[in-house]
Amino acid sequence: MVSPLVFIIFGATGDLMARKLMPALYSLWKQKLLHEKSLIIGVGRRELSTEEFQLLMRDATFKALNHNFSEDFWKEIVDKLDYVSGFFENDQLYKNLVNRLTVLDKNLQSCIPRFFYLATPPEHYETILTHLQSSQLAEGCLPARLPDSVGVSAGGQGTINYTRILIEKPFGKDLATAQHLEEVLANIFTEKQIYRIDHYLGKETVQNLLAFRFGNGIFEPTWNNKFIDHIQINLAESDPVGARIKFYTGVGALRDVVQNHILEMLSLIALEEPRGFDAESIRDAKTQVLEHLLLPDTNIAKVSVRAQYAGFTSEAAQSTGAANTESFVALKLHIDTPRWQGVPFYIRTGKALARKVTEISLHFKKPVCQDDVCFFNPDELQRNVLTIRIQPDEGIHLRLMVKRPGFGMDLSPVHMRFCYQDTFPDGHTPDAYERLLIDAINGDQTLFARTDGIAASWRLVTQILNGWESGDAHMFTYHQGSMGPDAAVQLIEADNRHWYLSED
Ligand code: BG6
Repeated sequence: MVSPLVFIIFGATGDLMARKLMPALYSLWKQKLLHEKSLIIGVGRRELSTEEFQLLMRDATFKALNHNFSEDFWKEIVDKLDYVSGFFENDQLYKNLVNRLTVLDKNLQSCIPRFFYLATPPEHYETILTHLQSSQLAEGCLPARLPDSVGVSAGGQGTINYTRILIEKPFGKDLATAQHLEEVLANIFTEKQIYRIDHYLGKETVQNLLAFRFGNGIFEPTWNNKFIDHIQINLAESDPVGARIKFYTGVGALRDVVQNHILEMLSLIALEEPRGFDAESIRDAKTQVLEHLLLPDTNIAKVSVRAQYAGFTSEAAQSTGAANTESFVALKLHIDTPRWQGVPFYIRTGKALARKVTEISLHFKKPVCQDDVCFFNPDELQRNVLTIRIQPDEGIHLRLMVKRPGFGMDLSPVHMRFCYQDTFPDGHTPDAYERLLIDAINGDQTLFARTDGIAASWRLVTQILNGWESGDAHMFTYHQGSMGPDAAVQLIEADNRHWYLSED
């Protein structure tokens, strides 16, 4: 078990803490993956006593974990939760935090490592970061603040064991703001201290992408333009924006999930074989993909579709930017590398769609006819499709053509399915946040976004945003419960291909 540490979570009364972070921390304690002397200091603007905060967290954890919640175990950990209220721009808040942490160091007779977690709306990031710097909180435990008797000899800037910063996406609103945020971060922390969280990278099936591709000899040789016709990434959500409408308005689907979750998945699917399985080799390979991503046509309307579900603007109470906020995006992208020359990557994501499903599908070329001799009529064959189902029902499916039983030689498509839950019914699949928190504690940055990858993805996304802003792409409307506007269907059908979900 690791040594004691403290999470200082800004935005601790917010949605992310309630739905994801607190339940994940509870589970880590329960599995004895967090030291029993570790602590959480929630920081928020709401004026709450520590007891009120503890109660809020208890209810949230109960709601999230349901029958996996144990009242007895909660009683064992409740005292590890503390709360400090204050406005993020107020120096006093940080002085209070310094005081609390100094007391902790004294009680533990050592410098407790500090994990700062920014779970606030992104507009507060810079304010919090600069205050972490000016208050010297970013420097970790300063032995000078402790009495001599404690005898602590380490701490201070550069002693990266003592502070880490965990920061939630979105990292900026476009390339310029992302670069600015990166400058602020780099001014305070070294890259080794920075953990940029994209929770998709913590999902079991996303991690399985590399195992699947490089742990099986049969797939890698076909993972290229010789065999693959095209690749699709679908991230469909059935819920409308709902309670997050204030955050979402002015952000939209492109920034909310394409710049991060979808492009992260795309980079994992498309990367060249990394030099090794260490964090830097994998992140180098991913960045290389993102740096070679491009729009296949300068006319933005030919390669992108943006749309809004009917009723979105009234849900957003006509607030500024609502009319220009897309809740749906479809894109066609290319990767300018020898492996992927000529292979389009189609992306589709949206809110209020017919189903909630995330999957990546690789569509293989049909068998080629040799010298005009075709064993089967190509029009009657369906492509082999390899689907990596990220959620729900995590698994891998393969569509094959087989002979239908009987006297003739008629072919039918069938599906071979591997489903995690069926194969590993007793396995504990850690929630994405459990996995990411443990990796951050262990200093493993493999599943965290790196600054150059973020810049590369923003470069592409900003190009699309600029194209849209210059009026080159219409904002379409779609019905809630549909799979998006007809224009998205036309985007892919113009290439004689079709959107695909494995259970359609
Ligand atoms: C978040 C987005 O990052 O990911 C949300 O801000 C989206 O808008 C969510 O709903 C999707 O995550 P998941 O894990 O539910 O697929």
